Amino acid sequence: MRLSDDVLLDLMTRFQTEMVKGLGRDTNPTAAVKMLPTFVRSIPDGSEKGDFLALDLGGSKFRVLKVKVSEDGKQNVQMESQFYPTPKEIIHGNATELFDYVADCLEDFMENKNIKHKKLPIGFTFSFPCKQAKLDEGVLLSWTKHFKARGVQETDVVSSLRNALRKHKDVHADVLALVNDTVGTMMTCGYDDQRCEVGVIIGTGTNACYMEEMSHIDLVEGDEGRMCINTEWGAFGDDGSLEDIRTEFDREIDLGSINPGKQLFEKMISGLYLGELVRLILLKMAKEGLLFNGEIATALRTKGKIETKHVAAMEKYKEGLSNTKEILMELGLFPSEEDCVAVQHVSTIVSFRSANLCAAALAAILTRLRENKKLMRLRTTVGMDGTLYKTHPQYAKRLHKVVRRLVPNCDVRFLLSESGSGKGAAMVTAVAYRLASQRKQIDEILASFKLSKENLREVKTKMRAELEYGLKKETQPNATVKMLPTYVCGTPDGTEKGKFLSLDLGGTNFRVLLVKIRSGRRKSVRMYNKIFAIPLEIMQGTGEELFDHIVQCIADFLEYMGIKGARLPLGFTFSFPCRQASIDKGTLVGWTKGFKATDCEGEDVVDMLREAIKRRNEFDLDIVAVVNDTVGTMMTCGYEDPNCEIGLIAGTGSNVCYMEDMKNIEVVEGNEGKMCINTEWGGFGDNGCIDNIRTKYDKEVDEGSLNPGKQRYEKMTSGMYLGEIVRQILIDLTKHGLLFRGQISETLRTRGIFETKFLSQIESDRLALLQVRRILQQLGLDSTCDDSIIVKEVCGAVSRRAAQLCGAGLAAVVEKKRENRGVEHLKITVGVDGTLYKLHPHFSRILREMVKELAPQCDVTFMLSEDGSGKGAALITAVAKRLHSIGEN
Ligand code: BG6
Ligand code: BG6
Ligand code: GLC
Ligand code: GLC
Repeated sequence: MRLSDDVLLDLMTRFQTEMVKGLGRDTNPTAAVKMLPTFVRSIPDGSEKGDFLALDLGGSKFRVLKVKVSEDGKQNVQMESQFYPTPKEIIHGNATELFDYVADCLEDFMENKNIKHKKLPIGFTFSFPCKQAKLDEGVLLSWTKHFKARGVQETDVVSSLRNALRKHKDVHADVLALVNDTVGTMMTCGYDDQRCEVGVIIGTGTNACYMEEMSHIDLVEGDEGRMCINTEWGAFGDDGSLEDIRTEFDREIDLGSINPGKQLFEKMISGLYLGELVRLILLKMAKEGLLFNGEIATALRTKGKIETKHVAAMEKYKEGLSNTKEILMELGLFPSEEDCVAVQHVSTIVSFRSANLCAAALAAILTRLRENKKLMRLRTTVGMDGTLYKTHPQYAKRLHKVVRRLVPNCDVRFLLSESGSGKGAAMVTAVAYRLASQRKQIDEILASFKLSKENLREVKTKMRAELEYGLKKETQPNATVKMLPTYVCGTPDGTEKGKFLSLDLGGTNFRVLLVKIRSGRRKSVRMYNKIFAIPLEIMQGTGEELFDHIVQCIADFLEYMGIKGARLPLGFTFSFPCRQASIDKGTLVGWTKGFKATDCEGEDVVDMLREAIKRRNEFDLDIVAVVNDTVGTMMTCGYEDPNCEIGLIAGTGSNVCYMEDMKNIEVVEGNEGKMCINTEWGGFGDNGCIDNIRTKYDKEVDEGSLNPGKQRYEKMTSGMYLGEIVRQILIDLTKHGLLFRGQISETLRTRGIFETKFLSQIESDRLALLQVRRILQQLGLDSTCDDSIIVKEVCGAVSRRAAQLCGAGLAAVVEKKRENRGVEHLKITVGVDGTLYKLHPHFSRILREMVKELAPQCDVTFMLSEDGSGKGAALITAVAKRLHSIGEN
């Protein structure tokens, strides 16, 4: 029974291998050491609070507790508890009897404490191996120690307890957490020392738990953070791996136990077996005439006569020897002085071996923690409990000493759990309770973003009505969806040709392009482009500055392409609402999105561009067409697919154009043919017609924007605002203490931090939580894993609503097209562009599904515009140029 350090180091390595085996998906089923996930993910951080009940069943004593945790700056826990007996009939009876008994004791306790009417959450410490799939569930794998109630193994003990509690009409408490006693101990100690990340019990049984990296736990989804693992180290050796160190006495103990072949490591260590080990050794020695003159008293033959408390007393410093004598006398033995010394020696060897074995396994855990953290030295705290550890006079110091010798690179603090597992169980319950109530609050906040089918159908109907108002002479002046005629009267037919310049202003990027179009057999479009930045102070400076800057960029581009001398025709994609009287005239109705340059609204932007070119006096250009980006997109796609008669932008802003029958456009003369209408649907709702579905966050975003009260639909559906809505929700959640530890950082106060690309990244399914957290950290938001989950969920709710609303709007447009044509079924293509549509992982799918649902008679093909609006603008310019020259001729 004497184990050298070499043997202990070898055992330590063996246990390390066992842990890996227990954690692995494929190796776990045959692993002796089960390494059970506990679904406890964090150590108490002091934010826990409330009143809780705790049950503590499975150690030497059964206890019911009431724990009050207050968060008043300094940590404060008040506990009241009562012990109840666990009669043999109960722990060896059947499942119903056991749980009824537990429930009865709880009711009795609540009665005594006068808290029967209260609805308190319960934390259930149940000190046996349980397989958990969540915190409030645990299937008992097998009984250990002295428990053996029938019909409990392989059943969920939480539901059994709940069923038993249900029989008590006036008890309303519910079980929120099931924890092993090791976990309870770790959490109890963790409340006082945040470094505590291991819990060890050396009592009736023995076991340990520790915080493991999620990425190493194959049996639980997710890679982020840590989770406590209940090792159930008592079963170490059940697969035969400790046969070399087990002795004949260990085998005898096992055979006489209620679970032969099981918990072999525990049976060499824990309190339930230690006295018995000593007895068996003494018996053998007596039989061989080495003790008591070879006399074998009945007591020595009787199982259980020597208990762990006796072993502890015999090893007491100073009184040990006299205690030994007394104990032996009580057993009816008549020991000589020498007998007493020998018996004391046997006790020491047995209990020392116990401490040694525990130390080896604990050293393995500590090494694993150190390696997980990639540290040279680990500083950590181990929470300790159990009567053997607490009451044996030498045990603790021996254990500490051996551990320090086995893992010299770990600085370990052993912290005794003074108040048992109940306090820790209350902590776990407090966290579970907080998470449950947080969940409720978050769900409530996000509920306002969930639109019913009814809501969405109504949006479609209203949009449909607005489209009509905008087209009618009478209602047009007050229409919120402006339905601007574009003077683009047909889609490209492939005869377009020539060299054109193109500007593309108003989306995420400002671009200048050279577009070369060939017609006929070698029909092709070649494009050269350059992206330029428009600084914020120019976007929101004076109109002159803005246009001077644009011309400066054109000059750079011409220089760069070496075509400064050529007077090329130019198509100007200008992605803002313009009232047009011809293709080359466009009066800006009002800035939208992030632009707010002065002296532009009400002015012709083509004139402003011409004047800026004149001011620069370096080159000349022939501005032939001003084109909205939706129109440019429709034309770009129309060049490939003649069925494309709708252009959709879901990007920084949101808008749609489509080919309308001239006879329906009352504001333009003529009834023949078609003309493209730029709907400017972003203004939908500016008359309050969708206020029923706008949330307070939408209103906040609107109020903080450059154009309050305007573009209400756009503000619910486009990239520039979705991030802002998310930010407003996050601020609110933080105010409620549901995020970022309740701290609203400077970053979170910063407008515009969530650009579309971040939303898209955060919502990507391929992204692990850790990456979401990194994105948030890049943005300057210091988040925990839980925060990251919530942020992702918020983004999801906001973008989903956006896609649905956009889909409902588009359904109205395709339905209108169908009715215009007077057909039962319409087949149509929509050309689409915009970063939200292109980059967001779910937006386009939800949008398409919505259109299908709300416009079932339309077969809509979505065609992504790969080349941007610049190409379309060039095509329009080509057509306009051709028509112009025909006109001149
Ligand atoms: C107690 C804990 O302090 O220690 C119990 O509250 C635990 O949860 C027990 O089971 C372990 O020690 P023993 O000696 O009672 O088995
Ligand atoms: C681009 C077009 O591809 O998409 C622009 O060329 C358009 O004209 C833009 O404005 C819209 O998307 P975003 O996300 O850049 O606003
Ligand atoms: C037994 C149980 C284990 C418990 C330990 C200490 O080993 O199986 O769950 O933690 O005893 O009580
Ligand atoms: C804004 C503009 C509109 C543009 C859309 C997409 O809604 O007002 O003209 O088409 O953004 O860029």
